[in-house]
Amino acid sequence: MKSNLVLTGFMGTGKTSLGKLLAEKLGRGFVDLDQKIEQDTGMTIPQIFEKYGEKYFRELEKNAVKEVAARKNLVIATGGGTVKDEENIKLLKESGVMVCLTTEPEEIFRRTERRGERPVLDAGDEDRLNTIKKLLAERQKFYAQADYTVDTTNWSPLQIMNDICRHFRG
Ligand code: S3P
Repeated sequence: MKSNLVLTGFMGTGKTSLGKLLAEKLGRGFVDLDQKIEQDTGMTIPQIFEKYGEKYFRELEKNAVKEVAARKNLVIATGGGTVKDEENIKLLKESGVMVCLTTEPEEIFRRTERRGERPVLDAGDEDRLNTIKKLLAERQKFYAQADYTVDTTNWSPLQIMNDICRHFRG
């Protein structure tokens, strides 16, 4: 049954902060996939990438998706690359309504400027904005599979939350 609310979208689109707010408003449990992986492994995401590489991180991510998608009535914030795996999309969409958050590449750039937190961006071109644009284009076809997309650029978290709740309830 589709009882979960799943947030997807690129890095820096606000999935974790909005997910927490939504869970509170809807009186649901909240799971952030990256935080779950960090708790389960006792390592940070950058440490996992550095020690074991992206492929291994994606395996951990896939296992976390399987576990979380089997649960009910949650708000789930995914990582920006979770949807690169079609099976992840399938499981998550079967378990709930999938909402994709978007914002302008320049805004993503500003929000993800700090080095050492997003290994996928740190490993890209020296021109970080270019890496963001390239990855956004590559991933567009995955994000497009969401049931509903919200452009968060000009909206406050409260407005976004109300919009998603209206859609989710409807
Ligand atoms: C990733 C996004 C990150 C995290 C990992 C890989 C990606 O999550 O899962 O660094 O490939 O887009 P956030 O979107 O929460 O930053």
